[in-house]
Amino acid sequence: MWFLKAKKPLLGLAPMDGVSDYPMRQLCREWGADLTFTPFLSADKIIQKEEAVLAEIRSGEPTIVQLFGSRVDQVFQAAEIALEQGARQIDLNMGCSARHIVHKGCGAALLGDIPQACKILERLVAGLPSSVPVSAKIRLGLDRPTFTDFLDRLTQTGIRMLSVHGRTRAQGYSGQADWEAIARIKERVNIIVFGSGDVRSPADVQLRMTTGVDGILIGRGAIGNPWIFSGLSERDLIRQEWLSTLCRHRELIQREGQSIVLFRKYLSRYAAHLGAQDRGALLTAEEPISLLQTMVSGELARAG
Ligand SMILES: Cc1cc2nc3c(=O)[nH]c(=O)nc-3n(C[C@H](O)[C@H](O)[C@H](O)COP(=O)(O)O)c2cc1C
Repeated sequence: MWFLKAKKPLLGLAPMDGVSDYPMRQLCREWGADLTFTPFLSADKIIQKEEAVLAEIRSGEPTIVQLFGSRVDQVFQAAEIALEQGARQIDLNMGCSARHIVHKGCGAALLGDIPQACKILERLVAGLPSSVPVSAKIRLGLDRPTFTDFLDRLTQTGIRMLSVHGRTRAQGYSGQADWEAIARIKERVNIIVFGSGDVRSPADVQLRMTTGVDGILIGRGAIGNPWIFSGLSERDLIRQEWLSTLCRHRELIQREGQSIVLFRKYLSRYAAHLGAQDRGALLTAEEPISLLQTMVSGELARAG
């Protein structure tokens, strides 16, 4: 696989709608993420060449484009367009539990229609160049973990990688991700498996790698915390590193022509550890980076 290297553990930024945009993906790469995913993108919107969706793919960094759709030709056509736009790998979303997605037979609905999911994946594997891996992201099952024929059938399609969010569709995001269930999936299949769910610190990464997975996808734990990919936690960073990461994130967002509103969304997470007054000032500042610079140089001066 294009992202494999001697370094272990393999860490990826999980696909997250509204979060894993180009600036976030690039920043996480700079902090050591081995792979990144776009958020799930509508196959229909790609086929309609909706500019905002194509721009998500055309970012310059090698990324896995995740598609959602329910029909064989629809997903295949979208995958071909995604490749023209620079996708490095195509992933099929089989895990989204949002009602408006499931109603259309997409996302986690495909967990309940394995023959259709397999037809889509087989078409992708057969029709795309062999240098483009095809993968799928699943949950543990619809309402309880399913480990048998379903997984065998899925891997027979020729996909090269499986990402598993350790919850069922019925669970949504409630409860804890079941990493024992993820480990059983890794034991059963002979392809690369990434586990996903509730990994929020370098210690969690070490713990979850003992399940035998090939790598880990980090989602919510990377928001406001991109250095998790380097094995550092926030308290390991010196203040200047923290500040320069925020500046870099702001710069990447600006370069994409995105507004300060987007940066503020991430800033609220970066600033979670600050006192209420500083946090409030930052989140309402016209240009938060200048204020951050003032705050950090004040702190450094006080520290002597
Ligand atoms: C805001 C948000 C958006 C998400 N969007 C997607 C998505 O587009 N595609 C997908 O496969 N999973 C999506 N997920 C699921 C994550 O990829 C991941 O599997 C899940 O959040 C568990 O990992 P975590 O605890 O590290 O966040 C999303 C999760 C969140 C919180």
